[in-house]
Amino acid sequence: MYRTHTCGELRLENANETVCLSGWVQKIRNLGAMTFIDLRDRYGITQLVVEESAPEEIRKQVAGLGREFVIQVTGKVLERASKNNKIPTGDIEILIEKINVLSRSEIPPFTIEDHTDGGDELRMKYRYLDLRRTAVRKNLELRHRMAHLVRNYLDSYHFMEVETPVLIKSTPEGARDFVVPSRMNQGQFYALPQSPQTFKQLLMVAGFDRYYQIVKCFRDEDLRADRQPEFTQIDCEMSFVEREDVLNIFEGMIRHLFKEVRGIDLPALPRMTWHDAMEYYGSDKPDIRFGMRFVNLTALAQTKDFAVFNSAEYVGAICVPGCANYTRKQLDELTEFVKRPQVGAKGLVYVKYNEDGTFKSSVDKFYTADDLQAWATAAEAKPGDLLLLLSGQKMKTLPQLCELRLEMGNRLGLRDKDVFKPLWVVDFPLLEWDEETQRYYAMHHPFTSPKLEDVDKMESDPGAVRAEAYDMVINGVEVGGGSIRIHDSELQQRMFRCLGFTEEQAEKQFGFLMNAFKYGAPPHGGIAFGFDRLVSMFAGLDSIRDTIAFPKNNSGRDVMLDSPSEISEEQLKELGIKLG
Ligand code: AMO
Repeated sequence: MYRTHTCGELRLENANETVCLSGWVQKIRNLGAMTFIDLRDRYGITQLVVEESAPEEIRKQVAGLGREFVIQVTGKVLERASKNNKIPTGDIEILIEKINVLSRSEIPPFTIEDHTDGGDELRMKYRYLDLRRTAVRKNLELRHRMAHLVRNYLDSYHFMEVETPVLIKSTPEGARDFVVPSRMNQGQFYALPQSPQTFKQLLMVAGFDRYYQIVKCFRDEDLRADRQPEFTQIDCEMSFVEREDVLNIFEGMIRHLFKEVRGIDLPALPRMTWHDAMEYYGSDKPDIRFGMRFVNLTALAQTKDFAVFNSAEYVGAICVPGCANYTRKQLDELTEFVKRPQVGAKGLVYVKYNEDGTFKSSVDKFYTADDLQAWATAAEAKPGDLLLLLSGQKMKTLPQLCELRLEMGNRLGLRDKDVFKPLWVVDFPLLEWDEETQRYYAMHHPFTSPKLEDVDKMESDPGAVRAEAYDMVINGVEVGGGSIRIHDSELQQRMFRCLGFTEEQAEKQFGFLMNAFKYGAPPHGGIAFGFDRLVSMFAGLDSIRDTIAFPKNNSGRDVMLDSPSEISEEQLKELGIKLG
């Protein structure tokens, strides 16, 4: 038997018991008369002690120990003279009677502490050591707990977990596919699923009624803090439902998670149309933890000789509370901020609404105090507030103003990680025009149903058709998205025509789905949550990386395995692949 207890278990009640523990040596402190060892496992840390009077053999063994050795000790539980109230086992220590080294360790490349000295790359390379750190392991424990809660919740609503294949044909989700060459079908490739979208719809045709799967998805896209090339979705689909049914069930799931994990009773989730999200927040994932909604000042700003505004399609402002006292330097910093290539604005106009009711702006040459007062009134500004204005082409300026708003939110400390403001964004456009290829693309995917009242505009005004699509957004992060699907093969064909598919192309790519719809498809809809994103939100992390046991770095590499990597000539030959 390797242990009678874990390293997080013993308390004062256990005093005088003889116990056996196994774990890793976290720390050794030799104080001359006594040596203390912190023994660690997943459950906690227990202090071991060896006295100067201990048998020579034990003292020798202890002297030979190093950090991260795996040892087994037997000894008596004693009440500590000086207690440590920072850890649950802090009232006791174990007086070592026997020690057994199970495994030695080289000196680890970084300290296994909450605040480690290891840099990012090093920790990724030795991920198994990084995972020993409580701070990292805690995130994985949270992930486990949330998966468990999700499964129980969905099970209680009769959702059935079904596994779908990983070697498939490409799904039209919009990102690039990862592909896998087939040895038995040379020159042909499987694609890894960007999501199980078509399979879950087929399961509805199969009559499964309610499906879910906590499932890996693969997308070959540029990486960011909230994106990994392989990530996990809570993927769900339901039959005989309208939008309200889907939103209710999954609003319930999110509220259940907040209640159980964070002890938060969320109020009913507000809804915002995509149009309002863009108009007032410049983003389809608005962070509504704070105000500063956009104010459209186009008409009011185009009354004088200021060419920049007069030539702009849109002039928009945010009203920053209490910042009229911003200095020249601070305003210059903001101008630099909006001019960065990542934001892309040409410049910034400010208007200070001073405490004494006067105005000071960067466009005083062009506008009178009355003009500025009119802007301030439109923006519901109070004395002491600062207006920040951007202008230009509307669809370019809105996201720029969004960046500026978020920056001001950060500066004013309005984006508290412990405050959660989820919402549904609804009524997305069905289609999105792409200038480069001069065609429409499905904003979600081609199986998303148009809103019934907009169907007759599909041919005459495709850009104005709204979709039965919805996203759940929390604190500016899109944590989930889905839609009511098209279940009628004729409407599906019309959709493919809108997307510029010929009948043959549609047949070749999606024939299996359209065929299935010929055999009695129930009305259905669903949603998928980004599980890594949800966990990182609940854990208060900036990146989804630390919610994943073995993540890829920002170039999509696994630095521990050194993957992707070249494969041998033989393997290539077997697959019938010739390189460049
Ligand atoms: P969508 O593409 O919106 O929808 O994806 C659903 C959710 O998955 C998360 N997500 C990601 N998380 C980490 N890394 C990535 N690279 C990544 N890409 C997406 C997001 C997103 O909201 N089949 C549809 C769902 C449906 O219609 O039911 C789909 O995949 O949180």
